[in-house]
Amino acid sequence: MAAGSADALVLFGATGDLMHRKIFPALQALVRRGSLSVPIVGVAREGWSLDALKTRIADSLEHGPGLDRDAYHRIVELLRYVDGDYRDDPTFVRLREQLGDAQHPLHYLALPPSLFATVADNLRESGCADGARVVVEKPFGRDLASAEELNRSLHRSFAESDVYRIDHYLGKESVQNLLVFRFANNFLEPIWNRNYVDHVQVTMAETLGVEGRGKFYEEVGAIRDVVQNHLLQVVAHLAMEPPVGHDPRALLDEKAKVFKAIRTLAPGDVVRGQYRGYRQEPGVAPDSKVETFAALRLAIDSWRWAGVPFFLRAGKRLAIASTDVYVQLKPAPQQVFGASMGRPNYLRFHLGPQRVSIALGALAKKPGAEMVSREVELQVCSSGEDDMGDYERLIDAALHGDTSLFAREDGVLEEWRIVDPILAAGGAPQAYEPGSTGPAEADALTAEHGGWRRMRPP
Ligand code: BG6
Repeated sequence: MAAGSADALVLFGATGDLMHRKIFPALQALVRRGSLSVPIVGVAREGWSLDALKTRIADSLEHGPGLDRDAYHRIVELLRYVDGDYRDDPTFVRLREQLGDAQHPLHYLALPPSLFATVADNLRESGCADGARVVVEKPFGRDLASAEELNRSLHRSFAESDVYRIDHYLGKESVQNLLVFRFANNFLEPIWNRNYVDHVQVTMAETLGVEGRGKFYEEVGAIRDVVQNHLLQVVAHLAMEPPVGHDPRALLDEKAKVFKAIRTLAPGDVVRGQYRGYRQEPGVAPDSKVETFAALRLAIDSWRWAGVPFFLRAGKRLAIASTDVYVQLKPAPQQVFGASMGRPNYLRFHLGPQRVSIALGALAKKPGAEMVSREVELQVCSSGEDDMGDYERLIDAALHGDTSLFAREDGVLEEWRIVDPILAAGGAPQAYEPGSTGPAEADALTAEHGGWRRMRPP
């Protein structure tokens, strides 16, 4: 299907948790904005009715953003429901009937990856894949080999240009702003390279634990859950070259080049951690070795970044909830006025949650008799709540055929290639206290570069 707008939205897994938490609220926002007016077909295998789905949507909105009566009624008018097993032909015959005149449906698979192939095959055989696109949720596989297999199964029914792989970080205002800030400002380019940048740190700290998702998390761990996707996408935004032109493919091409340039990780590049108490969570093995924290050092073998380490860390049950990026610059060539009391210049991007900000760390004179400097921070940008939610932005983009906010096959496979050896190596994680900044062993990674930056709110 060429770029253009979808004329129906099909939601597989309509009764599931992701719909309730993220997708129904996004639909309400899109309807309010006037961006969604095509039929919405829920599909599930729960023995539900259309009325039950309507009630579920109302419940999601009431517990989430608040139910907007007008928008809800418009959703209900657009809503249809197909109940049936994803393995059965009649389910897809009924779906084709419900699609009516629609020629370009968008199929959203909010399903476990183990069902992608079955659903994609049945969509093709029922004619529902003709002229259609498909959105697939993460995780996209669990290693390189399974991701390649998933691609093959999807490509039997959909061209790569019609496959939209979700990484919800790409829908975040703050993550998009990394690109705008980098490429809209001329002052940055001369210093945005190995000559001026000492290293980069990306931290994704969460205070929540696995929140009842222990069984799921046991199959995943922090590296698969957030490093392979969200954090590597952030790195790509920081490290990529400017895209040539406005075509979404140009952006994805540049990101793919960054992924290709990232060196495959070795076990020595990574420190894995597990919070105390994780093994007592429901669904978690009493001797689990799954990591709830990972800190790692990436090397990018490119002209721009050779020799500049990118340090990443992500963990659950940490001291604060904060995702941020520090781009640490090298020190000034000489200390003209004696000892400096702070770190050299840096740029700090706070990516969430809640407030989004960009700050420049600088050295200024410490008030008093001495000519010594201290660290100050110039907050160059700060916004309020993101007015467009990540899922709202992503569904809108998929409906309108904008692939730039989704992960492309080549990029995803490179992301897996980068982490595959450390996933295979496994090993016992280091224990850390809930409410801490992770295991002390992670400090060794950044020791030569001044240590990790303090985890702090925006
Ligand atoms: C998801 C992970 O992809 O991202 C979760 O599966 C994690 O484990 C979540 O908590 C974090 O997203 P956000 O938008 O809250 O930073």
